[in-house]
Amino acid sequence: MAATSSAGAGVFRPAERIANLPPYLFAEADRQIAAKRAAGFDVVSLGIGDPDLPTPRWILDELHRTAEVPENHRYPDYYGLAELRRAIASWYEGRFGVALHPDREVVPLIGSKEGIAHIPFAFINPGDVALVPDPSYPVYAIGTMLAGGEPYMMPIVPSNGFLPDLDSIPAPILARAKLLWINYPNNPTSAIAPEGFFERVVEFAARHGLLVCHDNAYSDVTYDGYRPKSFLQVPGAKEVGVEFHSLSKSYNMTGWRIGMMVGNASVVSAVGRVKTNIDSGIFQAVQYAGIAALTGDQEWMAERNAIYQRRRDLVISTLREIGIEAPVPKASLYIWAPVPSGQTSLSFSLKLLDELAVWVTPGVGFGPSGEGFFRISLTTPDSRLEEAMRRLRTGKL
Ligand code: MLT
Repeated sequence: MAATSSAGAGVFRPAERIANLPPYLFAEADRQIAAKRAAGFDVVSLGIGDPDLPTPRWILDELHRTAEVPENHRYPDYYGLAELRRAIASWYEGRFGVALHPDREVVPLIGSKEGIAHIPFAFINPGDVALVPDPSYPVYAIGTMLAGGEPYMMPIVPSNGFLPDLDSIPAPILARAKLLWINYPNNPTSAIAPEGFFERVVEFAARHGLLVCHDNAYSDVTYDGYRPKSFLQVPGAKEVGVEFHSLSKSYNMTGWRIGMMVGNASVVSAVGRVKTNIDSGIFQAVQYAGIAALTGDQEWMAERNAIYQRRRDLVISTLREIGIEAPVPKASLYIWAPVPSGQTSLSFSLKLLDELAVWVTPGVGFGPSGEGFFRISLTTPDSRLEEAMRRLRTGKL
């Protein structure tokens, strides 16, 4: 029998769960940039946080070596190679002093985005609430919506140091809330967690029975000697939460798709149950390369971060020259800056694209409280970033 459509011949009506789903922020940005390029403009994109600097040589060598091994072309182990889980656990011990059981408290992910999108399937029932910072990485809210839950947006704005005001969450929302998302160093605002903040989150989560999901993807992109902590360093954190991490930003490996979730054993087990039913793990050669990344010399990061820091300083000083005062970040890949008065975040982004062929991400793309801001990513090669800054300074193409 021929397939029939409820929305017209050859067109299938999507399920309710995706009917109201917005296009993914960075996919939409790519569309805008491609249209401008197709019109003949040399667009400099300062959009997505996608390291332009190469993955270190020894990691590539390990990928080449292990890709030659036919055994690695077969389905990977569902829970990741035991060696990878052990490497993740010892990296956490070395980097943060956090002890993890490699079999019970670690699950490798096909990039942290995958786990962030899937954890709601393990914990959110229809009608449940996830507490999500606003602005934030869009996947926290979207994963919740895909699982039938409701994101409750917690404004993070300059007046509260870009921290959620946990005490202002209404009691009826808290009664339905299951997950609490936090992310420091923060995307998109670049804010860092002040002393005592993670402790307050642990206490709050324990009091309200919340599962804390901390996204720590930017812990190794840091400036001026700053060393971010892991949420799991705080006493009691493992009882209430997990941490997502990724090799993407730390090791310049965004395209490789390798990350991890670590912490509370019951959460690791539940997410593992979801994942084993819907994916088949990370290509094994990538897992071996990931082990090389985590266990190899980490000193190279200082030089990489010095490059980002120079870019940070260039952007901050250029913005200052054109009358925009942005906080100087101590970590992450982003400058979060206020748009000039009279503009919205979208009108300003589109104006820069239109008039200067420079793309910056409109703050509102990260949530309603991102209105009034734009984000510049530092992951554009020096010469292109300099060109973008020249255009901003002179207002000319
Ligand atoms: C960003 O630009 O916000 C991130 O790079 C996107 C991502 O990590 O998927």
